[in-house]
Amino acid sequence: MPFFNDFNLDNWKESEIWTDSLWIIPERDKTGKHNGFYHGNFIPQIPRQLILRYTKSNDIVFDPFVGSGTTAYEAESLGRHFIGVDIQPELIEHVKSKVDNKNYFAELIAGDSTNKKTFADITEILNKRKRKNIQLAILHPPYANIIKFSNNDKDLSNTKSLNDFLKAFSSAINNTLGILEKNRYLAIVIGDKYTQGKWIPLGFYCLNEAQKLGLTLKSIIIKNMEGNRAKQNKEAIWRYRALSSDYYIFKHEYILLFKN
Ligand SMILES: C[S@@+](CC[C@H](N)C(=O)[O-])C[C@H]1O[C@@H](n2cnc3c(N)ncnc32)[C@H](O)[C@@H]1O
Repeated sequence: MPFFNDFNLDNWKESEIWTDSLWIIPERDKTGKHNGFYHGNFIPQIPRQLILRYTKSNDIVFDPFVGSGTTAYEAESLGRHFIGVDIQPELIEHVKSKVDNKNYFAELIAGDSTNKKTFADITEILNKRKRKNIQLAILHPPYANIIKFSNNDKDLSNTKSLNDFLKAFSSAINNTLGILEKNRYLAIVIGDKYTQGKWIPLGFYCLNEAQKLGLTLKSIIIKNMEGNRAKQNKEAIWRYRALSSDYYIFKHEYILLFKN
């Protein structure tokens, strides 16, 4: 039985945990507090699988790019504590109003995850909670400038170049490593981008940044991008454009899993 989760291996055949590196997820889970309003959110099944597999009850899950709070709600419903950061104060207020903070705490901080000062605040929170560190980090940053999230110049979606993006993202990983328990796990959820006729393998660049910081790569999971109706209406146009040119349409993202 692994020390980092609550599995009962006597019932391993009934486990809901996926163990293959290809995650085809047909539908977004819209139950509970998830409503999918936020453009750029990930589907709840991603944090659910990671939390179940890599944490125990009462562990702390950390998300430095909270967005609409998908990870926070999954942590709460699975009986884990949560700490999250987002650069947009109004999103933090929104998530604060939704978490219940009763049996499991959810600490939400408006701040910049690339800044050490934000992590000094997190260390204070950990001290107040009488905890030394966090047990799982899930990082779902902007995919560089594909979606602009805010006007804040510290927002990773406003970085001026690929290098600036990677430098800033590397700082966020490094800051996270400062609070991640040794031998625990860090996951990066990221997709690639296509610009000026070139495929930019953001996923591989981010993987490289994490490895440069000393993390051990455990898995590369490929996840399909699920279609919504708006996307489906445009699917024919994209297919026509692809056929009349020389590229393939993005249908996948990566979940990069590392051990500290
Ligand atoms: C891809 S979204 C995360 C979505 C989230 N997983 C969800 O399901 O809603 C990226 C988030 O990172 C935030 N962000 C961008 N730069 C940041 C920074 N420097 N520090 C903290 N948050 C940042 C954006 O405001 C945005 O909400």
